[in-house]
Order: sequence, then C-alpha cells, then structure tokens
Amino acid sequence: MLLTEDAPARTQRIDPAFRRDILEGLAQEPKATPPIWFYDRRGSELFEQITDLPEYYPTRTETALLKAHGPDVARAAGAGRAVVEFGAGSSRKTPHLLRAIEPAAYVPIDISGDFLHDSSAELARAFPHLPVLPVVGDFNQPLDLPEEISGMPRLGFFPGSTIGNMDPGAAVDLLRAMRRLLGDDAMLLIGMDRIKDRDRLIAAYDDAQGVTAAFNLNLIERINRELEGDMPVDGFAHRAVWNDQKARIEMHLEALRALDFQVAGARFHMERGETIHTESSHKYGTRDERILLRAGGWDPVEEWTDAEGLFGLVLAQAA
Ligand code: AVJ
Repeated sequence: MLLTEDAPARTQRIDPAFRRDILEGLAQEPKATPPIWFYDRRGSELFEQITDLPEYYPTRTETALLKAHGPDVARAAGAGRAVVEFGAGSSRKTPHLLRAIEPAAYVPIDISGDFLHDSSAELARAFPHLPVLPVVGDFNQPLDLPEEISGMPRLGFFPGSTIGNMDPGAAVDLLRAMRRLLGDDAMLLIGMDRIKDRDRLIAAYDDAQGVTAAFNLNLIERINRELEGDMPVDGFAHRAVWNDQKARIEMHLEALRALDFQVAGARFHMERGETIHTESSHKYGTRDERILLRAGGWDPVEEWTDAEGLFGLVLAQAA
C-alpha cells in the first residue's frame, strides 16, 4: 500500500544529481552533459536496440570474443573468483563469462536499480548455484562490496568499452579506484574499442535507422519531463563526429535554429549551429590500451581481438 502510494510522487521528484549535472553542463561553454543521464528506461531500451544494429559492431564483436576465449580467461584467472561487473546493464554478455570460469559469486554494480534487479533475477535463474549479489550504485563514486565476498579473489569485468566514455585522465582514475576496490590478487577483464576506419566509426554512431539519433534526442525529452524543461525536440539534430586529435567519436545535439528555453527555472540560449556535447567514445590503438591499463595500476597479461581487429578484450592483473 505504502509503495503504490509513494510511487507517483517519487517519479515526479527531481533527482538533485541530474539537475546539477544538466544545469552545470548547459551553463558551460561549450555546452556538455555527462553521458550517464542517457539511461532512463527509454534510453536503456534504445541502447539495447543500438547493440543489435548492423552498423554497431562493438557488442556482437565483444560477445563473440567472450564466447571464443572464455576458456582462455578461465585458464588464466582460475576458478573460485568473485566476478564484479561494473555497469552491469542488461548483462547479456555476462552468461558467456560465468559459464566459462566457475566463479564463486557474481556482483553486478549498476546505477539503475530497476534494470539491475531484473537482470540479476534472470541471471540467478540461469545460474541457480551462483550467489548473485547486486549493488546499486555509481561505480565512479566510492562504494563497498558485499560482505559475502570478503576473502575471495576478484575478477573485475568491465565490458562494452564503457571506459571509452572517459577522458584518459578520468579513465586512469577509475582503473586505479577499481584496483583499490578489488584488491591485490585481483584481475580485470576489460573491453576496449579500437581505432579504425573513420567512416565505419561514424556509421556506428549515426545509423541508417536513426536509433542512435533517438537515443541522443531522448536526453532532451528526459530533461523536459524530469527537470520541468521546455527544450524543443524538433529544434535539435543528432550529430556524430570523429575527433581525430583526441581519438574519439563525439555525439552532439546541434541547434537547428536560434533557441531559447528553460530548464528547472534557469534560462538558456543557443545560437543556430551551436551544440551540446553529450558523449565522447574514445577508441584505442593496441599499445594505447596497454599504456592506459598500466597507468591505472593493471598489468595486461593476455589480449584477444577479432579477425578485423575491431575490438579488444584485455585480461590484466593487479600491478
Ligand atoms: C555504452 C559507452 C560503450 O560509446 O559505444 C552507443 C554508448 N553511444 N552509441 C559507446 C553509445 C552511442 C556506448 N557505450
């Protein structure tokens, strides 16, 4: 009873972190917002659709690498580890890893409680003897691992090239925080997207069906709904740009005309052609991956890639 009475009020309440990030981001010059806010229900659904697009190679390539090299990971990491997944999302890749390595526990960490609980329940059904211990939280902030896995060696799992969302400095900080959280005998299995042909990269972030455009534009709808905004959705266009200097794909929302709007009571103006930078997705050369990992306190021990060299799966151990 209490829950059903509470629910509508809770969805209307403003998330202070969302409000702060968006207001700060829109006040910045140039405007830029953190990509974590893409993932409301609708955004998470659209991201799932992205992973199935013909142009979006990362998910299927990484999944194939996990399937093919699960036994290699098992050999190098050994059985009995607690697998700690950062940003567990829908966990579709996870079963391939769990099947291969005989883990002692599985700890998915995700900021979205709804999503996490659904996917954890599904995994617990598929692996009835495996303790599944979800942690709701932002892995960019300090957090605690469940009591149950104290004393178990850990295998961090950070798939999807999520690390690519971070500038190199922030990526190194996060790797160091993971190293600290997971302990001295930990290993880390991490997916890193490779630098490749520019047109192929742009197509992956500007697909023919417009799913990525809808994913990017959904941020505006979320701002309007949750932060009392009046941003005109038809006043913006999705743009995907390759920044060669920084080796990253950038997603932007470009103003199609001069715009005036309000968000949470604050007024904003954009000139025609001005953009909100909504995401960066860094790509790595083979040696870039190793430098980044070493800087973050991890020694690469093995790495696997597909025949075309589109995507890298790297196993590292705590340095
Ligand atoms: C979830 C951050 C890995 O950068 O490829 C996909 C997000 N954005 N299409 C990526 C994303 C647009 C994705 N990551």
